[in-house]
Amino acid sequence: MRIPLIAGNWKMFKTPQEAEAFCERFKELYKDTDVQALICAPAIDIPAVVKGFEGSNIKVGAQNVYFEKEGAFTGEVSVDMLKAAGCSFCIIGHSERRQYFGETDETVNKRTVAALNAGLKPIVCVGELKWERECNITEEVIARQIKLDLWSLTAEQVKNVVIAYEPVWAIGTGKTATADQAEEVCAFIRAQLAKLYNQDAADAVTIQYGGSMNDGNADELLSKTNVDGGLIGGASLVAEKFAAIVKAASK
Ligand code: PGA
Repeated sequence: MRIPLIAGNWKMFKTPQEAEAFCERFKELYKDTDVQALICAPAIDIPAVVKGFEGSNIKVGAQNVYFEKEGAFTGEVSVDMLKAAGCSFCIIGHSERRQYFGETDETVNKRTVAALNAGLKPIVCVGELKWERECNITEEVIARQIKLDLWSLTAEQVKNVVIAYEPVWAIGTGKTATADQAEEVCAFIRAQLAKLYNQDAADAVTIQYGGSMNDGNADELLSKTNVDGGLIGGASLVAEKFAAIVKAASK
């Protein structure tokens, strides 16, 4: 049984004070114990969110992490730092990191390995560009990303990975993939995992959909067999909207 994972990706929004106010409100609204809720906050907000969710089952994550243990890497944050701050998850390889900050499948792989070794659950993001979908190579793109991003992991390690399928054309655009499109690719990802590892590992992996998911479309997307949750950007910034998505996942 996979527990639905509804993760907010705040991106570069909210000051620590605004984060605190969100947590207070969301904690009042979050009643479901059969759904795992998670907020992936900007690094500077993590202490406020950890404190804000104290005494609840809501988890806290980061949006990126560097793969070296420590050293002269100005501006970076390590897995041990995130763990010590109270994070249990970390988004890795978000398309915005790939697009604006030079993230490659190789560095996504290094970050994923580092996160797993430190006991931090990576949420590895994959997804095709609009042009790639139009050229009918979505499956090739996803298969390549899965293979490279998870390179060298054992089947046991893979069970601790969360994969977020985020078609790049659906992120922040209001153009959600249809529930059937989301299911098709999420099922394809699971089949790839079964091929690369084994069925047991593939069945254990949480696969999320992300890209303009909101309180209006979450119900249908989350009703699909292979869609185990969502990675939510815009709609995770408002406690009421995010709580409504969590509620949709608990049905
Ligand atoms: P969106 O972002 O929900 O605002 O489309 C999703 C994401 O980038 O994770």
